Order: sequence, then structure tokens, then C-alpha cells
Amino acid sequence: MAANVIVLDFGAQYNQLIARRIREAEVFCEVLPGNTSAQRVSQKQPAAIVLSGGPASVFEPEAPQIDPGVFELGVPVLGICYGMQLMAHVLGGVVKPAREREYGRTEMRVSQASALLHDVPDRSVVWMSHGDQVLALPRGFEKLAETARTPIAAMGDPVRNLWAVQYHPEVHHTEAGMRVFTNFLYNISHIQADWKPVNVIGEAVAQVREAVGAGRALVALSGGVDSAVAAAIAREAIGDRLSAVLIDHGLLRAGEVQEVQQAFSNIDLHIVDAGNEFMTALEGVTDPEQKRKIIGREFIRAFERVQSVIGHRDVLIQGTVYPDVIESGGKGAQTIKSHHNVGGLPDNVAFKVVEPLRWLFKDEVRRVGQALGLPDVLVWRQPFPGPGLAVRIVGEVTPEKVQVLREADAIVREEMEQAGWDRTVWQAFAVLLDLRAVGVMGDARTYGYPVVVRAVESQDGMTADWVRLPYELLDRIASRIVSAVDAVNRVVYDITSKPPGTIEWE
Ligand code: XMP
Repeated sequence: MAANVIVLDFGAQYNQLIARRIREAEVFCEVLPGNTSAQRVSQKQPAAIVLSGGPASVFEPEAPQIDPGVFELGVPVLGICYGMQLMAHVLGGVVKPAREREYGRTEMRVSQASALLHDVPDRSVVWMSHGDQVLALPRGFEKLAETARTPIAAMGDPVRNLWAVQYHPEVHHTEAGMRVFTNFLYNISHIQADWKPVNVIGEAVAQVREAVGAGRALVALSGGVDSAVAAAIAREAIGDRLSAVLIDHGLLRAGEVQEVQQAFSNIDLHIVDAGNEFMTALEGVTDPEQKRKIIGREFIRAFERVQSVIGHRDVLIQGTVYPDVIESGGKGAQTIKSHHNVGGLPDNVAFKVVEPLRWLFKDEVRRVGQALGLPDVLVWRQPFPGPGLAVRIVGEVTPEKVQVLREADAIVREEMEQAGWDRTVWQAFAVLLDLRAVGVMGDARTYGYPVVVRAVESQDGMTADWVRLPYELLDRIASRIVSAVDAVNRVVYDITSKPPGTIEWE
């Protein structure tokens, strides 16, 4: 895929949002590590470059650096937050630690007309998150905006086409954030808006065909939308030379195996019942990261076993999506959780891995799935983590706890669907806690597990807000769980957003 825009990533958790906004503007972009050389960037022939934010201070010895040559490519550059400080620092401005960190919503005042802030209201709300600030402009730059605590909230050099904002135009709390991107992409960089997610279908089909040649391929289905769409693309590419495998690790939701079976009746599908192996491997394990690693390892083992049954396949199709690619990039951003579906294959695997969706975000994958004619029940399925219910059982995973959680989760999903909420939320599910609470039922004391209900709205899983579900719905969910699921005597609702919480509990 040739990208119009290169986003250089300096490690902020919000970085993927920058890529999302650019794609919403119908411009294709690629995220590369912040220290990518100017030569490599220029080989990609971008029409524009964006420097992301990041947690570092330009003064730290370990702070991510930029190749100064990037500013001399003659390509328009937009620096965001750390990207602005880096731009100022490298080009001879003055960056200093601010007296107080500025965090959250702030009013910004535009101080001068500019191409970057064209049509941004004179006063508008922006989202700030920084410790350092630019105090003196580099030569050739003009100040474009300020806030009460940030003397230079935006700056630009119209001659060299270098622009920067101290705030985060990519987060939705910034009122005219999208305007900054469209100004930069369309007016400053003269890029045409013509990219759509379905554009990748042709290329992805060709990629699979080329990789498989006259051979055969295998796809691992998880029941989720990503692997389903990857399978649909592969089927389109190579027809019945595609086989599919579903590893049932015993940690899937109620009814899931059957649903996958039904939806993929047109594919040579092998369902592997590996529940016992996974459960044995998880015995006594309580640490979340260890759970994830064990599941990743067992997954590979199960996969190797089925491979020996099915026979040799030249290519493995994986439903890796762009956030996985960026998150596993191994640069700046901290590892919050290891995702088991990426990079989890052993070095000695005998097949080539093809990832037809590696350029797409989740909602883009859905649009591709729709275009390929997949049924709604699959296309609109909520994301479900590869390690399954294991990361929703705090503490040790046992078959009994899986059963308890599965029942509670089925109730949550059923009630959400009946109330018409299932498609408006990103995810709604139950979590089983590793502690017990006292209750009373039918005059008798109970000592049972609490279940947490979590419902979040999100665009891409990177940030999320808890959903204000109606009390009546919460009430129905809670009373049904407590009366139908024996071991549970209490239901609580999780009202934590992301950040600071993650969506899954582990
Ligand atoms: P967190 O919990 O990190 O989750 O806020 C963000 C999104 O990713 C999903 N998730 C996973 N998906 N393999 C996956 O395929 C995983 O290991 C994994 N862990 C979390 C999670 O459900 C949410 O949508």
C-alpha cells in the first residue's frame, strides 16, 4: 500500500487516533517509528508527514529523536504535542518545562490567521497533555494560537510548510480538531480525499493469490470479525484451496462454536477441541500476563497438532489488524498487554504468514466485511479477546468459573440485544471476580462471587467511555444473573473509562 501520509510515532498512547483521523479524511496513512531516517521516509514519497505526541521530554537523554533531515524533504510536516516540541528543539527554538503540567480541556485563542487554523473558531476547546512547552519560536515561525497557560499553542512556518500544535487535535474533546487535519491534508499538502477501506480488497485478494500460488492456505478463525473477514478475502482469492481451523480453547462464549460452524459452512472447517489442554496449562496461574503467554503458547501447540492432521499448507492467513501492527511495533509506547494473536507463532513455523487486513482499523474491517457480503451477525460481532474468557476471570481460571462466567455473560448479551443496545456499544460483557461477598437469598446466608458488568463505547478500542445504560436494563441484567447463576450473589457495574482503565480487566 502506498501511503499519502507518514505518521512518525513518538510513543503516545493516542497515536493511532491520529491515523484514524487521517483515514476519516479519506487519506491513506502509514505509521512508522519516530526515528525512521529521512531517507527511508522520502523513499515512501509521502505528500505529508505528521509527528505524533509522546510521553518523553526532549531533554531526557533517552528521548526519542527525529532525523532533522525530515524537515528538509520539502514535504509539509505537522507536529503534534511532543512532535511540536521536537520540531522547535531541532530547528533552534526554545523548549522549557512548564511550571505546571497542563492536562485536559483548555480554551484556546487563535492569535493570527493561518492556513492551519483556517475556520477554527477564535476561541475553542482543545485537549492538552504536556509537561514541556515551546517558549521561543524557531526562526521563520509565527505564533498562531495560545491558551492561558501555554504561550505558543500552535505555530507555523508557511514558507517551509512546517506546522505544529501543542494540543491534541486527534482526540474528540478538541472541538475543531478534525479541521486542523483537513486544513493540513487538503489545503496545505494538496492531497485528494479518495481513500476508502474497501480499496484494500483488490490488493488483499491479489496479495493472498500471489503468496499462495498454486498451493493451499489455512486460516485460523476465532469467531471474531477480523479473522472472518480475512477468511472471506482468502476464499475470494483461492476458493476451496482454503481450509479453516477454529481452536476451541474452552474459553469461548456460549454458542460461539455453533455460530462459527453455521457461518462458515462453505469453508473446509476443522474445529479443534483443546479445552482440556488449555485448562491444564492454566492451573494455578493467576498473573494476567502469564495467562496470556500460556494461552498464546497452547494456541500454537493446538495449531501445530491440527496442521499435522490437515496436511501441509503453504500459507497461514491471519486477521491481524492495524492497531495490532502498531502496538507490537516494539518502539516507544509501553506494552500494556501482550496480544496473543500477533507475533505469537514460533520461529520454526513452516508456513508463510499473510495478513490481508494489516492496514485496517476495526470499523474499516467491518466495512470490508459488509462489502464482501458476510452476514450481519458476524460483521457486527463485538470484539472478543483472543485469550477469551480467561482474561475476564480475575485470578485462577477453572472449568467451574468458566461455566459461571459463560452463563452470566450470555445473560448480559441477551439483555443488551433485546434492549437494542448491542450495536451501539463497542463491547458489553461480564467479568468474574476472585473474591466472595456475603448475601442473603430465601432467608439463607450466601457467600458467592460478584460479577462485574462492563459496557463501553469506543471507536477503535484505544480509548473508551463507560456506557450510561438505563437503570432498568442494568436492573434486569443484575436480577437475572443473580437468580440464574448459582455461584453469583452480587452484580456491580464498571464505570471506569479508558484511560485510566483498560477495557478488559486483565
Ligand atoms: P484493552 O483491554 O487493552 O482492550 O483496553 C482493547 C481491545 O482489545 C481487545 N483485546 C484483545 N483482542 N487479543 C485480541 O484479539 C487479545 O489478546 C486482546 N486483549 C484485549 C479488547 O477486547 C478490546 O476490544
